[in-house]
Amino acid sequence: MTSIQSLLKTARQQLATVSDSPQLDAELLLSHCLNKERSYLYAWGEIRVEQALQRQFNQLIEKRLSDYPIAYLLGHKAFWSLDLIVTEAVLIPRPETELLVETALEKIQTSKAPKILDLGTGSGAIALAIASERPDAIITASDYSDKALAIARQNAKKNNIHNISFIQSDWFHQIPPQKFDLILSNPPYISSQDPHLQQSIRHEPLQALVSGETGLDAINAILDSALHYMQHRAWILIEHGYNQGDTVPLLMKKLGLQHSHCIKDYNGNNRLSIGRKG
Ligand SMILES: C[S@@+](CC[C@H](N)C(=O)[O-])C[C@H]1O[C@@H](n2cnc3c(N)ncnc32)[C@H](O)[C@@H]1O
Repeated sequence: MTSIQSLLKTARQQLATVSDSPQLDAELLLSHCLNKERSYLYAWGEIRVEQALQRQFNQLIEKRLSDYPIAYLLGHKAFWSLDLIVTEAVLIPRPETELLVETALEKIQTSKAPKILDLGTGSGAIALAIASERPDAIITASDYSDKALAIARQNAKKNNIHNISFIQSDWFHQIPPQKFDLILSNPPYISSQDPHLQQSIRHEPLQALVSGETGLDAINAILDSALHYMQHRAWILIEHGYNQGDTVPLLMKKLGLQHSHCIKDYNGNNRLSIGRKG
């Protein structure tokens, strides 16, 4: 049997080849196997780990060495103030997407019981974060993937959130006619030719990432129908790639949306475009 300390040391050295945070990854995976908090590893570094758990840990390290995302190995990911279940059926929520949540919350600051639509909800990250801050909001969250919707529903239950209706829909096709105060989406926006698709994101669902040759198919499909579902003075917020910050506000302007502009994330990259009806 090997001690916690020495398991961590070996794993850290191995993971340094694939991860920017080898120590953290090793600690997260070992505390996951031991079913303990990370602080336990510091307090009890001398303790010897039984063979079966050691084997389980080594298997996780092996998978991580093939660039498999840590969130899928752990089965959950923190987003906003929530802990979300993630499986290969959903995109792993990214910290950059919190900018969309922040911007959305600003836009509905003064509205009572705003009606909100989150298109392509995946794990439910955006809809759930907003619902957690605004229990009065009336939220619809949709996805084409029924497997993703099953995870989003589990996340609502896990986080005790009750003001979201989930619906399977190909963008707006199955959304009953109605007007929203706010439409949100972090759609797939990567070009099918993008070489990044060979990197670690290859483990995430293709339908969550790729959107035709230009990467704009989903954004075009959403914008095509959005106006019919927007209240007068409703906002639409769309997350997109760093290289789409000129195109998306332009597409919004062409549609007749007002105040269309792109917002940069905290790394200074174009991240999100917004526009208002009227
Ligand atoms: C980039 S992921 C975003 C997931 C989540 N909103 C987030 O920010 O973490 C895009 C989501 O759009 C969904 N999607 C792809 N094509 C769709 C379509 N035609 N209609 C509805 N949802 C779609 C995917 O299944 C995926 O869950």
